[in-house]
Amino acid sequence: MAESIPLEEYSRQLEHATAIVNSKIKGTPSQDSRVMIICGSGLGGIASTLDANTIIEIPYSDIPGFKISTVQGHAGKLVFGLMGTNKVPVMCMVGRLHFYEGYSFQETTFPVRVACKLGISIVIVTNAAGGINPSYNAGELMLIEDHVNLPGLAGWHPLRGPNLDNFGPRFLPLSDAYDHSLRSLFVETAQRELGLTRKINEGTYFFAAGPTFESRAEVRAIRALGGDAVGMSTVPEVIVARHCGMKVLALSLITNDAVGEKPPSAFSKNPKALEDGIASHAEVLKTADEASEDVKKIIEAVVNHL
Ligand code: HPA
Repeated sequence: MAESIPLEEYSRQLEHATAIVNSKIKGTPSQDSRVMIICGSGLGGIASTLDANTIIEIPYSDIPGFKISTVQGHAGKLVFGLMGTNKVPVMCMVGRLHFYEGYSFQETTFPVRVACKLGISIVIVTNAAGGINPSYNAGELMLIEDHVNLPGLAGWHPLRGPNLDNFGPRFLPLSDAYDHSLRSLFVETAQRELGLTRKINEGTYFFAAGPTFESRAEVRAIRALGGDAVGMSTVPEVIVARHCGMKVLALSLITNDAVGEKPPSAFSKNPKALEDGIASHAEVLKTADEASEDVKKIIEAVVNHL
């Protein structure tokens, strides 16, 4: 398990990474980026809505301190450019870093802190998630209004260790983590401005470290603990963004229904197949791909208002 590195060393890495990124965007409209978009599984296409003439791509491997994403569906580059008719300068993180890949939370959230040092004040976080709420269906969206940080409650917390005082407070409140105006703007934009009919739920995201998809009993436990959707990302990034004082809009694309029914009984004469509804990364990517056009349209239109 990757352990935390000392504070001074981490701060130096942040300075260095920010200087490298700054040197690549200096003198371009991207130097005024105010919005970061973290693209979830299969949602990297959000970056394709940027004006092609304005794009500056920086592979993570060119930025000291950035780790490499090892997951299919996660490219591994920062893409800067202008979005929407209002030409809003945006930094897209195409390919996120997960705890289950073996990285520490310090490492997975490093790009968020670099964004903060670049002067970015709003983070839009997207992810693919399993539907826990029985009323949710694959293909629907869920605006995140709150979260349960299971690893955090158990001691694996992104703000554990010496506090980075120049970023934020030791004891950070999270009751205001998911900005209300940004959520309202999202709903207004999707439904009124764009007239989209894809269902938008609002609910609680449950962070499970992964990489396994949840067992049936875990799905029931997550439901009992208040989760509406479950995923393996987002919460560490949101916490670190809030620690830096950034505003957060977070969106889950429900890519599969998490199976919470009891398994077929050994005593049953006519059992359902044990594999019914089984989760797979291929299904996650397929659903994300099908819904990604709507997600791209909404994010582009929302950013245009920022
Ligand atoms: N569980 C955890 N993470 C996920 C899921 C899931 O069912 N679907 C997409 N990401």
